[in-house]
Amino acid sequence: MARTIELELTVNGTLRRAEVHPAARLLDILRDEFRLVGTKEGCGEGECGACAVLLDGKIVNSCLVPAIQARGSEVVTVEGLAVEGQPGHLQAAFETANAAQCGFCTPGMLVAAADLLHRCDRPGETETRDALAGTLCRCTGYVKFVDAVVMAGGTRGGK
Ligand code: FES
Ligand code: FES
Repeated sequence: MARTIELELTVNGTLRRAEVHPAARLLDILRDEFRLVGTKEGCGEGECGACAVLLDGKIVNSCLVPAIQARGSEVVTVEGLAVEGQPGHLQAAFETANAAQCGFCTPGMLVAAADLLHRCDRPGETETRDALAGTLCRCTGYVKFVDAVVMAGGTRGGK
């Protein structure tokens, strides 16, 4: 039987523990151990951004992060952008702007947008396009995503 490692980390504000394979990725434990399936696996190679989460406040592609590297860290997934079980400010702006088609890229877009809004209260179109550039969307032209993020920043800035 493969050796396992014990991990303790904070996910969306809650202390979580897991026993995982040494080769497990952060993406694996979020989805398979903690059932936070909002985080998606697209390419598995760090190219598409579908698996983006915040790790100690910095955006990372969780498919590239060994789970052991997240030991003791704070992770925020797309589920963590909700406020008391309801869509947060940013999620509401995405809904208002109709900024999704199939929705596969949406969790990564939201995390990238949240990361931007943590750094910049009122991003303009250029900063927003730059911030979302690492998240690939095969359905849209990105216009509504950009509208949503600029709207969210203009009305509050933050989640
Ligand atoms: Fe991680 Fe594509 S699944 S970047
Ligand atoms: Fe389908 Fe972006 S809405 S991949």
